[in-house]
Amino acid sequence: MDSLNPAPADPLLGLMLAARADERPGKTDLGVGIYKTEAGDTPVLRAVKEAERRLLETETTKAYEGPHGNPLFCEAIGELTLGGLGDRHTAFTTPGGCGALFIGMQAAKLASPDARLFLSDPSWPNHEGIAAALGIETVFYPYVGDRTGAPDMDLVLKGLEGARAGDILLLQGACHNPTGTDFSAEQWVRLAEEVEKRGLLPFVDTAYQGFARGLEEDGANVKAFLERIPEAILTYSCSKNFGLYRERTGALIIQAPGAKAKDAVATQTAALVRASYSMPPSHGAAIVATILNDAELRRSWEEELGQMRGRLNGLREGFASALVRATNDDSLSRIAEEKGMFSQLPIEAEDTLVLQREKGIYMPGSGRVNIAGLKEDRLGELAADLASYLVR
Ligand code: LMR
Repeated sequence: MDSLNPAPADPLLGLMLAARADERPGKTDLGVGIYKTEAGDTPVLRAVKEAERRLLETETTKAYEGPHGNPLFCEAIGELTLGGLGDRHTAFTTPGGCGALFIGMQAAKLASPDARLFLSDPSWPNHEGIAAALGIETVFYPYVGDRTGAPDMDLVLKGLEGARAGDILLLQGACHNPTGTDFSAEQWVRLAEEVEKRGLLPFVDTAYQGFARGLEEDGANVKAFLERIPEAILTYSCSKNFGLYRERTGALIIQAPGAKAKDAVATQTAALVRASYSMPPSHGAAIVATILNDAELRRSWEEELGQMRGRLNGLREGFASALVRATNDDSLSRIAEEKGMFSQLPIEAEDTLVLQREKGIYMPGSGRVNIAGLKEDRLGELAADLASYLVR
């Protein structure tokens, strides 16, 4: 162990701890992606509480479930994302979205040992972190062309020019982290053509379904994309849309080109699971399965999800207008159009540290802000604090 040096702090988890330790009453934590109410709380959803109550009464065993985890949960996530699992799909309950990303990337590497990971620039830092831990080289493709924020397909395709057959193309479902701006339906069609032309393995990370426009609306482009292509990996997180952060609840769905390939990929992936965490935890998946298989609980969950979405979209509008007023920079109005938990501010990394030190405003050096961390009644004050640091 003598050869090891301390690892640098994780850009998001390090910030979460620093913000927690800050005792200034007026601090603003725009760091790690956690939904918060105006009071700054992250409550347990009503449907989750009720599902837990029912499980407490009805659960009869804690015996092992096996590497695939909870079949009812897998079916339900298959329903939400693909409209149902078919005979080309194999699904796993995983310890959060990260567990799915880790096992999914390992499976992709097993299929193509020289595969590289093509990742949008910018992306969520842990995508690169997981690839690095697995010895997978990351290649970045440009994503957002200018300050209007929309993905620029010409730039994306140029960035994919060096991609070889078997390389992994990581795409995000709705609510791109960190930009809040997603591919359009037409762009997803174009991506499917590119995947086919180059023989790439698409890897779709879905962590915010329901946070942009609605459950179905947010899943439609990915669903249509997966129908167009023979094979793909889909990872899913229930941390945000079910508020199950600490329960570590996610899913990995692999779409194989045919039923025979499906059997091989299912058994190989189960072996990877067995060699790492053996079997996934069950509680979060049981909660989700209970909610999605009960009409009343599902209705209640969708209602609360709609409220979270409404609050995020409302905060976006208020924040965008406050920023435009404070800076006279109309381009910041894009923040109202962006979707999900995050947007990126045009700010230098060193200035984010100044804001942290002097004003107690926390965001990573990339300038990504967690919209749910904003307070409706302090948007003007915050915009004034940020204004002189934003790059025009
Ligand atoms: C984030 O991006 O802040 C969240 O997905 C939490 C995390 O694990 O980084």
